[in-house]
Amino acid sequence: QELKGKTAFITGGASGIGLGIAKALLGEGMKVAIADIRDDHLEEAVAELNGGDDVLPLKLDVTDRDAYAKAADEAEAKFGKIHILVNNAGVAALGPVELASYGDWDWTLGVNLGGTINGIVTILPRILAHGEGGHIVSTASMSGMMPHGGAATYTTGKAAIVALMETMRSELEGRGVVCSAFCPGAVQSNIAEAGKTRPEKFADTGYAQTDKGRQSAGDFMHLFQTKEEVGQRVLQGILNDELFILTHAEFYEGVKDRAEAMIASVPRHLPENPEYKETFSVLFR
Ligand code: NAI
Repeated sequence: QELKGKTAFITGGASGIGLGIAKALLGEGMKVAIADIRDDHLEEAVAELNGGDDVLPLKLDVTDRDAYAKAADEAEAKFGKIHILVNNAGVAALGPVELASYGDWDWTLGVNLGGTINGIVTILPRILAHGEGGHIVSTASMSGMMPHGGAATYTTGKAAIVALMETMRSELEGRGVVCSAFCPGAVQSNIAEAGKTRPEKFADTGYAQTDKGRQSAGDFMHLFQTKEEVGQRVLQGILNDELFILTHAEFYEGVKDRAEAMIASVPRHLPENPEYKETFSVLFR
């Protein structure tokens, strides 16, 4: 699809992965609205993108539904129709599941999954209404595709985002809106600072100690992909209408093992009921 001259609305677009995506889409001649909770990130991102009138910085907390609608209005007022929505704003609190407090659960799920839902409720009807087609990319994570220990509040929201994109993809097929689950492996970003925007009402945490441990565990940034690399990968995923947009070859064996475990768990020794299969065929493919 032709992206030039169209508009993208990118949450968490002022840092890390979101900024990398903004760069890539701007490079394709798109106009980009970058919505972010942090003023300093917005200011730095505008300078880094250096896109003049094609970049609109918007201060937005994606969990604030009224503010979300106003931000979408602002983007439309400046650029016209929104064609691409990138639900990317995200935070992380990591540690053993038994230590996760309600504050840890509510904050991470509220931003990661709740923010994605708010993006869809706010912007999907606008995309469907203009009828020019569009694309919704939601940043999940490899942790949403291959959930691992020590990250329950994070993987739960990310797996839900993968399911949401799969659901919406089949539902919106044929109506001009393509949906993709973006599942990056590790990427250089500022996510370790996420706690800075944690609201007071979710301050209660069981992860104070594990967070401290994590921050002193060493710097592995040099092993991670850059925001430019993953931004280009998302651009390719959009251009190719990919359902799952993955970034790292290192996950091949794990993805294969998981897929094989799922296949092996289907009780094929049991007889199929042809009528059930026929009646609910939409469930089986
Ligand atoms: P980042 O911290 O560099 O960027 C996230 C941006 O989102 C920040 O500018 C932050 O201010 C903003 N943000 C946070 N809460 C917000 C809210 N309530 N409303 C609006 N904006 C908000 O982090 P990164 O790593 O670029 O994260 C982007 C997405 O990528 C997240 O969804 C994260 O879970 C996901 N991800 C990151 C990976 C990594 O290795 N960095 C790997 C897999 C997924």
